[in-house]
Amino acid sequence: MKYDLAVIGSGPGGYVAAIRAAQLKMKVAIIERYPTLGGTCLNVGCIPSKALLDSSEHYLQAAKHFGEHGIGTGALKLDWEIMRGRKDKVVDDNVKGIAFLMKKNKIDVHAGHATLLGSEAIRIVGADGKSTEITSTSVIIATGSKPADLPFAKIDKVKLISSTEALALKSVPKELVIIGAGVIGCELGSVYARLGTKVRIVEYLNSAIPTMDATMGKELGKSLKALGIELYLGHKVKAVDTKGKKVKVVATAPGGEDVELSGDYCMMAVGRRPYTDNLGLENVKVSTDPRGFIKVNEHLETAHPGIYAIGDVIGGAMLAHKAEEEGVFVVERLAGQKPHINYRAIPWVVYTWPEVAGVGYTEEELKQSNRAYKVGSFPYRALGRARAANESEGVVKVLADKDTDEILGVHMFGARAADMIAEAVVALEYRASAEDIARISHAHPTFTEALKEACLAATENRALHL
Ligand code: FAD
Ligand code: NAI
Repeated sequence: MKYDLAVIGSGPGGYVAAIRAAQLKMKVAIIERYPTLGGTCLNVGCIPSKALLDSSEHYLQAAKHFGEHGIGTGALKLDWEIMRGRKDKVVDDNVKGIAFLMKKNKIDVHAGHATLLGSEAIRIVGADGKSTEITSTSVIIATGSKPADLPFAKIDKVKLISSTEALALKSVPKELVIIGAGVIGCELGSVYARLGTKVRIVEYLNSAIPTMDATMGKELGKSLKALGIELYLGHKVKAVDTKGKKVKVVATAPGGEDVELSGDYCMMAVGRRPYTDNLGLENVKVSTDPRGFIKVNEHLETAHPGIYAIGDVIGGAMLAHKAEEEGVFVVERLAGQKPHINYRAIPWVVYTWPEVAGVGYTEEELKQSNRAYKVGSFPYRALGRARAANESEGVVKVLADKDTDEILGVHMFGARAADMIAEAVVALEYRASAEDIARISHAHPTFTEALKEACLAATENRALHL
């Protein structure tokens, strides 16, 4: 069977590309080595982590905050098996949903590991060792990423674990050390801290989520500390010892002295590396950069004509929705359309509570590029809805061009920021000014009024409720 398009990997990049290609009348194959479809995101990433984040936040609310609303719960009980089981069911429902979508769109699903053999041929080896071959005019590599580790501390999946194992622990640990205060460290650290684990996070740089706008890292850091998480910022990990009953992590503090932290587990959350093992890149003209990311041109085509790559495996923001946009982009171009991706308008979210979300330039990036900008901020504590909901911790910050008033970046820390950022994405995509958003009616009382107020603050400092 010869296909128009073969997609290697069924994560959000791959499966979305396959669906769009089928919609555009291509004959499509998708190849997946995992037993289920959906990739990192559905199986061991976005979906299970959000299921546990939601469950653990309910627990924390019941344990600490229901009383403030006059709700008594009596003795609270945590059943981790049920909580973990619910997460597994959510994953199961989602991956079955993708299998259904493949069937509905008449996409052939091949189970097994794919290796490129040449221009159009792909070998697929199933879990039973049986090998088949397919050919395809075009190929999309969407093989994603795996957790990275440190040269002196290799993930053993027993005590030195990655997010994958941390999502499936048999019991709630007493103590957990996390290396890296990036997105995974802050999200999964929050899950366990809410459930009673003593969480200690060691971060090399001087802030949590250091790639985001610095105000956000500062606010999130305060909130994680209030949750009981110990943050060791500016600490350089130099050894991890897994031999004893507890894992021991030694890190050098900014002053030069060593600190030793111990935990039932140590979760490595220092980023992810592209996954191209046994993909057969040596059989085609596909090259990688020194970190292993597949190199592509502006059309996401590799050096080998007809072979494209998308998602985590090409680097950039390692986000499910970025991978999806790239999948659609490649397929629509193959169909002769003229799609476009605005990478500056791809939002990012940290699903802690309060949440963090951002889109566009950070203040640090604007400073670095000497761009003249103005800032408008609005605190949640001045927002009626936030006070009504007992959610007055938070801030919305708008960065706009000093001369033209065009919105250049929006950064939010607060309840429901993950959903609220969508309005800022539209503003950036359509190049709205702060004045444009400030003049749009926002329902009262809602959290979204904070964005309107921050835009008012950015335009002649005229926030109404401050
Ligand atoms: P992947 O989802 O990694 O899928 C690649 C697939 O290819 C895998 O299923 C793999 O088995 C398969 N594969 C690899 N090689 C082969 C081969 N040779 N043959 C056949 N199959 C192969 N992003 C967000 O946007 N929001 C979130 O909330 C979020 N939360 C996350 C939480 C965690 C704990 C983690 C780890 C990640 C999270 N991410 C989140 C990141 C997100 O999961 C990734 O950016 C996204 O999954 C990348 O999609 P992809 O299609 O490029 O690759
Ligand atoms: P990350 O890049 O977000 O954070 C890694 C952190 O580890 C950084 O703060 C870095 O400074 C730190 N670090 C690196 N080496 C270190 C060392 N030796 N000692 C101490 N700290 C060190 O990576 P993370 O959290 O592993 O997540 C991987 C990817 O998964 C991210 O790129 C992210 O995009 C994606 N993801 C997205 C989520 C979301 O969108 N909500 C949720 C979870 C993951």
